[in-house]
Amino acid sequence: MTLHAPYPQGRPRRLRRDEFTRDLVREHRLGAHDLIYPVFVQEGQGRRDPVASMPGVERLTLDTLLPVAERCIRLGIPVMALFPVIDPSRKTSDGSEAFNPDGLVPRVVRALKTRFPELGVMTDVALDPFTTHGQDGLLDDTGYIVNDETVAVLTRQALVQAEAGVDIVAPSDMMDGRIGAIRRSLEEAGHIHTRIMAYSAKYASAFYGPFRDAVGSAGNLGRGNKKVYQMDPGNSNEALREVAMDIAEGADMVMVKPGMPYLDIIRRVKDEFRVPTFAYQVSGEYAMLQAAAQNGWLDREAVMLESLLAFKRAGADGVLTYFALEAAERLR
Ligand code: PBG
Repeated sequence: MTLHAPYPQGRPRRLRRDEFTRDLVREHRLGAHDLIYPVFVQEGQGRRDPVASMPGVERLTLDTLLPVAERCIRLGIPVMALFPVIDPSRKTSDGSEAFNPDGLVPRVVRALKTRFPELGVMTDVALDPFTTHGQDGLLDDTGYIVNDETVAVLTRQALVQAEAGVDIVAPSDMMDGRIGAIRRSLEEAGHIHTRIMAYSAKYASAFYGPFRDAVGSAGNLGRGNKKVYQMDPGNSNEALREVAMDIAEGADMVMVKPGMPYLDIIRRVKDEFRVPTFAYQVSGEYAMLQAAAQNGWLDREAVMLESLLAFKRAGADGVLTYFALEAAERLR
């Protein structure tokens, strides 16, 4: 198939000559509706504590979060994703605070859904903000992160979140079989509308560093890592197996994480399964762009929008990004 007549009849630059022509033939577009805004929430009142490694990102309290939710609605951002900062006194080795029905996350979910029923709310299903060791699951005597016992706890956590009225639960733990277990227990409890966005291809990445500072799990995790459950960055076919399993187990949407270094995975997943596919532009990606912009080395707004558009081109239906508010503001 010849797409262009040969030069000189074929001059691809014709379509790049003016903004109107570029606009006319652009294949992929970014809008506020593509964005999910991750927020950090803590106990207390009236606080907005900056996260040192994520300039522009703050840990909010319920009262300072509400105006942010309102801003999301005004800007057309469909979903906010909650990440809790749990007081160290509430952390245990088994992370039992994760399924406390009166815990921080369920309370914030109830408040948000009461005030702003039209805003989608998503919650993370994983134990790392709640454990003294900072791992996403339970440990055996050797320090190994056990699977099936962890899944039982995650299922309780997801159920508590669903009961609080969350729209989307997002298991980010990478235990085997957790999507199926969570789906079954949601169905049994009558939560047939609760959507599951599975962190299906989540890699054991160094790009999560600033997030672990933000939720206060970095110190707990110490020199530990998550390689015995999160995926090896050298693997690509394995991502397809993980996604296939999560879809078969009942995921409504799947996710690839991190984002920018894994655009190839997004493309393969989208081509193979054609299901709603999301990408997470994680904390380290945000930090790296912000740092370069603060040094005057990159044009902040331009790289923000280019990086987000790249996710759409790679096949993502949406992106979790700490730039969501700013990008939506700019895209108006
Ligand atoms: C928790 C979780 C993590 C992120 C989202 N959910 C951290 C981790 O797996 O260590 C990372 C998000 C980011 O870096 O922005 N399981």
